[in-house]
Amino acid sequence: METSPQKIIVLDFGGQYSMLIARRVREAGVYCELLPGNASREEIQAYRPAGVILSGGPASVYAKDAIYCDPEIFSGEVPVLGICYGMQLMTLALHGKVQPGTRHEFGRTRLEIGVHEPLFTDDIFDGSRETEVWMSHQDEVVKLPPGFEVLARTENGIIAAIGDRKRNLYGLQFHPEVAHTPGGMHILRRFLFAVCSCRGDWTPRSFVEAAVEEVRRAVGSRERVVCAVSGGIDSTVVAMLLDRAIGKRFVAIFVDHGLLRKGEAEQISNIFREKLHGRFIYVNARERFLQRLQGVTDPEEKRHIIGEQFINVFKEQALSLGNISYLAQGTIYPDVIESGGGSAATIKSHHNVGGLPQEMNFKLIEPLRKLFKDEVRRVAVELGLPASFACRQPFPGPGLAVRIVGEITAEKLSILREADAIVQEEIEKAGLHKKLWQYFALLPGINAVGVKGDNRVYGPVVAIRAVCSEDGMTADWARLPFELLEKISLRITGEIPSVARVVYDITSKPPGTIEWE
Ligand code: XMP
Repeated sequence: METSPQKIIVLDFGGQYSMLIARRVREAGVYCELLPGNASREEIQAYRPAGVILSGGPASVYAKDAIYCDPEIFSGEVPVLGICYGMQLMTLALHGKVQPGTRHEFGRTRLEIGVHEPLFTDDIFDGSRETEVWMSHQDEVVKLPPGFEVLARTENGIIAAIGDRKRNLYGLQFHPEVAHTPGGMHILRRFLFAVCSCRGDWTPRSFVEAAVEEVRRAVGSRERVVCAVSGGIDSTVVAMLLDRAIGKRFVAIFVDHGLLRKGEAEQISNIFREKLHGRFIYVNARERFLQRLQGVTDPEEKRHIIGEQFINVFKEQALSLGNISYLAQGTIYPDVIESGGGSAATIKSHHNVGGLPQEMNFKLIEPLRKLFKDEVRRVAVELGLPASFACRQPFPGPGLAVRIVGEITAEKLSILREADAIVQEEIEKAGLHKKLWQYFALLPGINAVGVKGDNRVYGPVVAIRAVCSEDGMTADWARLPFELLEKISLRITGEIPSVARVVYDITSKPPGTIEWE
């Protein structure tokens, strides 16, 4: 989607931080996209970028399968910032020398700045000649290409930042994009604003304006669009955008599968009732999902059934509307990148709706396909959705079905909803929610004996899961205060009659996963 006239291109050489670089650039208010490291100069120039950033990469520039970029990008036409592998690549291409690593440097390192302009200006570094940076490299630049100067070295004397101010080519041996480089964001901003002359006009508002225009252009003045909403942020934001773009020619179908958390289905319905002026269909499919899930214990089978039913319910409703040409979907940028980028339509796998568009002859529109999740949240606020909704923790598409180990029943769902609401409430009351990635209750599928008053109780064990994470790929179990855990435990056992035992999951990911199923 054309959303901003100014772009930065990040060439991805397979480094673990490539996507993070792109996120950081966007955080600075500059639109950017990732392209494969070996994209041709023509492909890159088609974007008319204000600058190019070369990411790090796992390999040595001398490895057999090392990816090289088109050397033409160093012609000086467009500013370039090479990070780690990217800096070595630039050095090699411009006839400097890179030595296969003898002195490995990993982790925090002191950086001694020699030349402040343009990347290390004094305001952030406080006139200091030193700062801390995050290094991770084996190869090192030992001879600069002609025209370059050393801007900074590590405390061990390794060349850590280089630049050719005439051609606007810069290289950093460390990672400015990670939080362990405290001045990193400033260095990136200096590259974007001082070197590339970016304006920083990529904002949720500019996105919404451009996306609305783009949807109008794509859909034309007569066609109608339908969208399935499941209760998640992405599909809700798509619905709001479509409503703004084409109003009466759009209809949202909310399939309530009965697997959402306490009060969520009501919250979504209220939002749509209010914001979509009645142009949404609420389908109460709770009984139907429960029936299909009866007796099913295998988690993958649960996911499959839920995905399939979701499609079936949606299909019945959409067909009854007649004469609809477009399906709007909440695909976001990480889905696009993970599925190999390209322009091929990507379907969110957790709803398993793979067969849907072809079979129903819908044309697809995906207004969020260039957004990161945190950008979707900001766009949600821009579109007037409540902040409590926009900031919600991640929640799996199959919902509470994957938080009940074993068979799902109405009774277990009701117990879990209550217990989960208590966990959420207490953690939020304690003000810890902003530090946690996810926090919830689950039923691990075992019963336990207890005593309440004079009575023996035999009912489900409730487990609490709370984790800290950056992206959900790895996670650390949260060290919740004992007093808070005690309060949660007392409330759950006190307020839910059949529950007499609460446990806390102290497993990180890896080796565990965040969800139990
Ligand atoms: P795991 O359990 O794999 O979860 O550590 C990582 C992240 O993904 C979420 N998750 C899912 N999301 N459909 C989804 O949309 C699913 O089937 C699913 N399973 C896990 C999980 O909540 C966490 O944020």
